[in-house]
Amino acid sequence: MPEALIARGRPLVSATPRPIVITIDGPAGTGKSSVARALARRLGLDFLDTGAMYRAAAAVVIEKGLPLADPRAIVAAVVAANIHFDWSDDPPSIIANGRRLGSRIREPDVTAIVSPVSAIPELRTHMVSRQREIARQHPRLVTEGRDQGSVVFPDAAVKLYLDADPTVRALRRAEQLRAAGSSVPLDQLLREMVERDRADAAKPTGAMVRPADAELVDTTSLTFEQVVDRLEDLVRARVERV
Ligand code: DC
Repeated sequence: MPEALIARGRPLVSATPRPIVITIDGPAGTGKSSVARALARRLGLDFLDTGAMYRAAAAVVIEKGLPLADPRAIVAAVVAANIHFDWSDDPPSIIANGRRLGSRIREPDVTAIVSPVSAIPELRTHMVSRQREIARQHPRLVTEGRDQGSVVFPDAAVKLYLDADPTVRALRRAEQLRAAGSSVPLDQLLREMVERDRADAAKPTGAMVRPADAELVDTTSLTFEQVVDRLEDLVRARVERV
């Protein structure tokens, strides 16, 4: 069916009764998080922000004063913190050690250490099993991260991979920061972004890769609405086709 003929904005109907997991991976600054959230809403699916889980782990590391050089202590503290979402909130709140973390997970000190924390292999194993557990409880799911299509849900119904020109990604991040009241020079943002991409792609486990069976969407010259439309069309064409 030509994608343009697919009606948008109604709950997704599957041609089979199986669970529907849609994975969205890709680097920072592609608009991935907000696009994934909007897509889930349009399709009537739940949304899982796996970056929030790694950010919550980083917040636990800071709260407990643990050194990055002690991965065993970090893994023990993160497992004990029982990081999970309260799905009765909209959007779901992330909770660690029984407390809602809210905007804490977006603060600069958390952002500064989340990449090395998320590179600890045993911590990833723990998070991956939590993510699969969430998918069992929420079998109609859009899940967003770096390894969702490659490692966590290799059998996902639809795999999407968003990318964009690094300069455009840095500009988008600058705009987000400006809206939040802070300003960082563009060349610094670009340098940090390229370095984070390099670190994310070089992780021993869960490295950021584009799965061979993922649909690549380059968002460089697309508006937010155009990206969501494109993803919605791709998903409907794959899932609703009989
Ligand atoms: O998407 P984000 O900026 O909230 O991700 C925070 C960090 O967690 C980032 O360094 C990448 C990492 N991450 C990961 O390793 N695997 C995921 N599935 C999601 C995020």
